[in-house]
Amino acid sequence: MAEIRIRNTEERISGEENVREFLSKQEVLYEHWDASKLPQELQDKFVLSDEEKSQILDTFETEIKDLAARRGYRTWDVIALSDATPNLDELLKKFENVHTHTEDEVRAITAGRGIFIIKGTDDVGYFDVELEAGDVISVPEHKPHFFTLMENRQIVAVRLFIETEGWIAHPFSDPAFQKQQ
Ligand SMILES: [Fe+2]
Repeated sequence: MAEIRIRNTEERISGEENVREFLSKQEVLYEHWDASKLPQELQDKFVLSDEEKSQILDTFETEIKDLAARRGYRTWDVIALSDATPNLDELLKKFENVHTHTEDEVRAITAGRGIFIIKGTDDVGYFDVELEAGDVISVPEHKPHFFTLMENRQIVAVRLFIETEGWIAHPFSDPAFQKQQ
């Protein structure tokens, strides 16, 4: 289950209902899929063939189509990142800049872990959402955020898009944001 860390206060929020309630106040969608539906061999595999990616999409077809029907997503794919990814460090450096998009950013984690760092309301400030397999999150359009990996540096996620062009990152310059925390 996802956990929240509020950066200004170090407060942590855990438990599905608490996390969902906090995120819903921040207008971030949070849902959960049953990650154990995935064949065992794909629950811990971070270098994937096209066939294995299709297998992941097939496994969660019902969940994907349900989410797409409710929220208007038209295309989806699978992204896998790990130390086997060429230039992972460079890629992460590029990721780790606060930015916005013109459509929401949806990720359904199917294996591994990752963190969304999101700019919350003024009373909350920046908060981290630590995600694990089964967690589904949607960061609304125009909400400053970035995504990075956790210590294990491996993740597989389903991404859903309305228009793939909507995913272009627009840098959000914020002097109040402290990177090293
Ligand atoms: Fe983003």
